[in-house]
Amino acid sequence: MALRNIVKVGDDVLRKVCRTQMTFDEKLWSLLDDMADTMYKAEGVGLAAPQVGILRRVCVVDIGEGLIELVNPVITEKSGFQKGNEGCLSVPDRFEEVVRPMKVTVRAQNRKGENIEIKGDGFLARALCHEIDHLDGILYIDKI
Ligand code: CO
Repeated sequence: MALRNIVKVGDDVLRKVCRTQMTFDEKLWSLLDDMADTMYKAEGVGLAAPQVGILRRVCVVDIGEGLIELVNPVITEKSGFQKGNEGCLSVPDRFEEVVRPMKVTVRAQNRKGENIEIKGDGFLARALCHEIDHLDGILYIDKI
């Protein structure tokens, strides 16, 4: 495991649409391990692969309830809305109010390539939406 550098706003890599992750091999596992390390070290609640310069549909989330690893995540259902402050490890020292769904269902694959489904409510829904947006080059500051 290793720490990776977090790309900051202004870098084009944050604005690209990421590619589907097709292989579930040691390279992916190292990426996921490094992303979790990097997120915890930076005291974030989520990190997406483009934030470490990798244009793949991969992200990690931990809002304090355990690590969630998502490969090729897609939001399949959303309902309600919530307003709340949001930050991003790629946008230092800034917190802004963003409207997000109150509940989401996300379909993804785990590190082995198995299909998983995650249901998120409240802050978890917010974190999932934020990280999945990164995979399409969208930053939360676009939504304020
Ligand atoms: Co972010």
